[in-house]
Order: sequence, then structure tokens, then C-alpha cells
Amino acid sequence: MTLNELEKSALSGEKIAMLTCYDATFAKLMEVAGVDMLLVGDSLGMVLQGAENTLNVSMHHMTYHTKSVAAGAPNTVIMADMPLGSYEHDDEAAYKNAEWLIRSGAHIVKFEGGGSKVKTARYLVERGIPVCAHLGFTPQSVNQLGGYKIQGKTDESAANIMADALAMSEAGVSFILLEMVPAALAKKISTSIRTPTIGIGAGVDCGGQVLVIQDLLGIYTGVAGKAPSEFKAPRFVKNFLSDTNSIESAIRHYVLAVKQKTFPAIEHSY
Ligand code: KIV
Repeated sequence: MTLNELEKSALSGEKIAMLTCYDATFAKLMEVAGVDMLLVGDSLGMVLQGAENTLNVSMHHMTYHTKSVAAGAPNTVIMADMPLGSYEHDDEAAYKNAEWLIRSGAHIVKFEGGGSKVKTARYLVERGIPVCAHLGFTPQSVNQLGGYKIQGKTDESAANIMADALAMSEAGVSFILLEMVPAALAKKISTSIRTPTIGIGAGVDCGGQVLVIQDLLGIYTGVAGKAPSEFKAPRFVKNFLSDTNSIESAIRHYVLAVKQKTFPAIEHSY
């Protein structure tokens, strides 16, 4: 499917199954297993580089991994994250960096935040670069947000996220990714805008779901150097490998569960 076909399919009610992907081997496996869209996420800072957060991921890292994923999955829509510092300062620089990701094989770029970023989204969309807006918990602002915390719990915070979603939708973004927000808020947003939503820790009523592949396989045990026993996976994570016998089969189970709305269940939602 092309990006346009995927957007249309999501608008007609078909759930989008998305996974993070950072290399050609997994990309090929995911394409064969029917994953709709691959996210070259800056989560690679944590799951590939062993860092505590995503703050030191660079454009060089992102373009390197985007090229690898594009080589492995030439027939799948690829979204690439814009890393911290690559889009916040001025729109022209944001365009240049987005262009670099597109030239590396991405079909769409994602960046975090609403507010002043709405103008940036419009700037890119008007110049032909498809955008996904990442709202709710935004990992690049982890220090400002005081840790990995659910967003949109108070009326004020929920109203702000809703306002950002409406503004981003009007700016013409192709998707809105909602991370760690109450399921009821994600449902309200998803039914109020025409732009398809993709959730992670945002309940079953989003237009699609995304998971980090290492979480789906149950192999991420926290930052390098810390005992795995100290790590507690977030509530929205499900290990799909524990009930089956191969990585491909685990990915297929995930795709099916998203399509059939059996994942995320209530215990994976806030
Ligand atoms: O970088 C990433 O993997 C992401 C997901 C958490 C959605 O942005």
C-alpha cells in the first residue's frame, strides 16, 4: 500500500498495524508478516544504543537506520522520527532535515508536540512532506514532563491535547500518534477529527496501534548496565512471542490482534 492508500484505508475503518523497525532483516520480516507501516523510531536510542532516553539520537543515526529499513521493506510505508533538535528552531531547517529523511527512504516524518509545532507541520505539508504529529507523552520532553507519565489526566491537560490534535489535523498532517493518554480521551480525539490516530498506550479506539518491536518480543529489559530484574515494562506492552514459536508468527499475531481489536485490551490501557 502507498501512504495515500493507507490513509484512505484507515479512514474507512481498517485498523493500522504498525511496529518500530531499525534494520533490513526485521523490515523484510515485517513486510512479509503484513505490518502496514514501519516506524524508524528514535526509540533506537534506548533499544539499540542502550541509552536511558531518546535525547542523544542524531539525524545521522536516523538516516542510517531509515536507509536500512527502506532496503529491507521496499513495499511498505515507512515513517521516520525527526530527532531532538532537528525541527524545533526554524521551519527551513525542519524542512531540510525532513527532506534528508525522505531521501533516505521515509515516506512520512514524525515529530513531537503541538502548539508552535503546528506551524512547522503546515510548513512541511505545504511543501509536499507528509507529517505525523506525536501528541500526549512526548519522549523528547521527558525532562520537562518529569518522567514517563500519562498525559491528559486532568481536564486542562486533556483539553490541550484535544486542541493540539484539532490544530494538527487542520494543518493537514496525515496521522496523529497518541502516546500514553487515557483511552477515553484517545477515543474522543479519534472520533472528533478526520485524521487517523495511531495509539501506543492510548486504548483500542485509535485508528491503529504501534509497538516497539523489542517490547512485542519481550526482549527489552531496560537501560544497559542495570539489572533486568529492576525493569518493569509499561502497562501498554504485550509480549506476543510468549504464546508462539517464531518471531514472524509473533508479528502476525500482533497484526491480527490489532485488526480484530483484541489488542490493546483494557489491561494495556489507562
Ligand atoms: O520512537 C518511537 O519508537 C516512538 C514510539 C514510542 C511511538 O515514537
